[in-house]
Formats: sequence, structure tokens, C-alpha cells
Amino acid sequence: ARVKYWDHYDLLQYQGFWCPSVFIHGIIAFQKHFQALDSDIMLITFPKSGTTWLKALVYTILNRTRHGLESSPLVTINPHELVPFIDAHLYVQNQSPDLEGFPTPRIFGTHMPYASLPHSILNTNCRIIYLCRNPLDQFISEWHFFHRVQGTQTKGIHTLDEVFEMICQGIQSFGPFWEHVLGYWKASLEYPNKILFLKYEDLKEDNLFYVKKIANFLRCPFSKEEEIQGVVEEISKFCSFENMKNLEVNKSGRLMGNGPENNIYFRKGEVGDWKNYLTPSMLECLEKLMEEKLAESGLTFKK
Ligand code: A3P
Repeated sequence: ARVKYWDHYDLLQYQGFWCPSVFIHGIIAFQKHFQALDSDIMLITFPKSGTTWLKALVYTILNRTRHGLESSPLVTINPHELVPFIDAHLYVQNQSPDLEGFPTPRIFGTHMPYASLPHSILNTNCRIIYLCRNPLDQFISEWHFFHRVQGTQTKGIHTLDEVFEMICQGIQSFGPFWEHVLGYWKASLEYPNKILFLKYEDLKEDNLFYVKKIANFLRCPFSKEEEIQGVVEEISKFCSFENMKNLEVNKSGRLMGNGPENNIYFRKGEVGDWKNYLTPSMLECLEKLMEEKLAESGLTFKK
């Protein structure tokens, strides 16, 4: 099945999820050819759940001894360029990209659902950090994102009501949302050393705790000296929405030179913006869905 999601952005039903047609070739090649290394780190997210933030945090945590923050590559390079989407940026351009030159540990991003990951990711000791977000804010963030990408010329399905109807049926990029989050939630309970399951709202609420948690998970914990020197605070501040949004590269640059404007990845960066958009009946509808889909799993979201 194929549906029109936004102009020039169709979704195809593929292995039980809605795959953006522009990425299908990259995704198939990634599934077929990618050979994970034990040292690899996969940053996996549902779209618009804080991928940009997670990429900045993990890159900065891992490279903290290599250079000071003022000379971090993130000052001049957008996080998505530094930590590419493996399927959309690397495989989509080339069936077998040369990944040899990547500094180790290699860090890659993807939005792929757990059930569709290449086998080598599951069969090696490579680690996964998964990040998701409450579905109300995720929906609003995605809606704004597509409006920005599409410009004002958007025809077809695009009003809040129309897109809402679709997401309630599970039709959205890499959706249904529920299957995506539950796939990683269940796997993280089964393989806690392999998969770290994070939520955007938690990262916002207690960022220092999660910066340390990520470092521990990646087996590069902060030393006592680093903690005393305030390294955790510095990293958290450096990767914060305010700081990242205001870096010159993210204010004015474009991804890979001619891609989307980098500032598209930095909008509001808050929890609860849905309150400015959702009608009471939309809220009721989504809450009912949340209850129905998540109750048994024990997975909950703050909103
Ligand atoms: P909003 O649209 O709600 O502002 P992704 O990176 O997965 O595409 O998600 C984008 C969302 O994360 C946007 O949410 C964006 O503003 C927010 N975001 C980007 N960088 C962030 C940061 N450093 N801290 C917190 N939120 C951030």
C-alpha cells in the first residue's frame, strides 16, 4: 500500500511500518549489507523525538577528552552531518558506502523499527540508544516540520485535522508510533545492556542524570575529577536547545550544503507545546489510544 502523506512525500507499507518512499532503497540496502561492529553505537529514534539532541549529546560525551567544547566539530557542523542517518544519508546515496574511514566508535542514526533492524545489529555487541517522546508533542513537532520542509505551497493533506486523522490510524513516517516504541521498550527490558531506552521528557527534566546515564551505558563514565570540574554540566549546557539553536551553523547553514536548512531541527524544544494546538476532542482521542496501546506494557509518557 502507498499513501500520500505530504506533497512529494509518500509512505509505503513495508515490513509492517510506513516507510517514506524516498528512503526505501537506502533502507533495503542497509538491511542487506550493513555489517555492525561490536563497538558501533546506533542512535535510534522515532522522528521528531529529539534525534538532533541525542546525536549532539552522544557525540560530545564520547569525544570529551579529544577536544574542548569550544573546538567541538558541533560548533561548525550540524549534528545530522556529524552523526549521519545510516539509511537515509549513507546507503540511500550508495548501495555499499565506504564506512572504513569512520572514526571508532562509529555513531549512526536511524528511525528503523526494532523488528526491521539488520541482523548484524542484533548479533553483535553493538549498542543501541533509543529515544522517543510523548505522542502529543511528537505529532505537533512533526506537523511543524513538514510545513517548514514543504514551504507554503503545500497542497494535499496538511491541515492539523487531516494529519491527526492519519496518525490516529498509525499512518505516519515510521509509524505506527505504538509499534515503534513498544518494539524497543520490550527489547530494552530483555536486553538492558544492549538497549538504553530514553524519553525526551526525562532528558528535559533531569539532563545531568541522563548525561551520566548515557556515559555509563557507553562504558565511558565520568571520573570523580570530571564531576568535580563540572564536565557533566558543561556538556549538558553545550548540547542544550538554546546553545545548539544559536550556533551560527544551525542558524544559517544547510544540511550537507544543499539539504534542508539546519534551523529546521530547532523549533521550540519544550514539553507540552501540544496544549497550544490540540482540541479537547483530539486530546481525548489520543489519550484513549495511548491507554489502549500502552497500558499493558507499563510504558508511560509525561506530557
Ligand atoms: P519541537 O518541534 O517540539 O521544538 P528531531 O531532532 O528528532 O528531529 O526532533 C526535533 C525536536 O527536538 C524539535 O522539537 C526540536 O526543537 C527539538 N530539539 C532539537 N534540539 C534540541 C535540544 N538540544 N534540546 C531539546 N530539544 C531539542
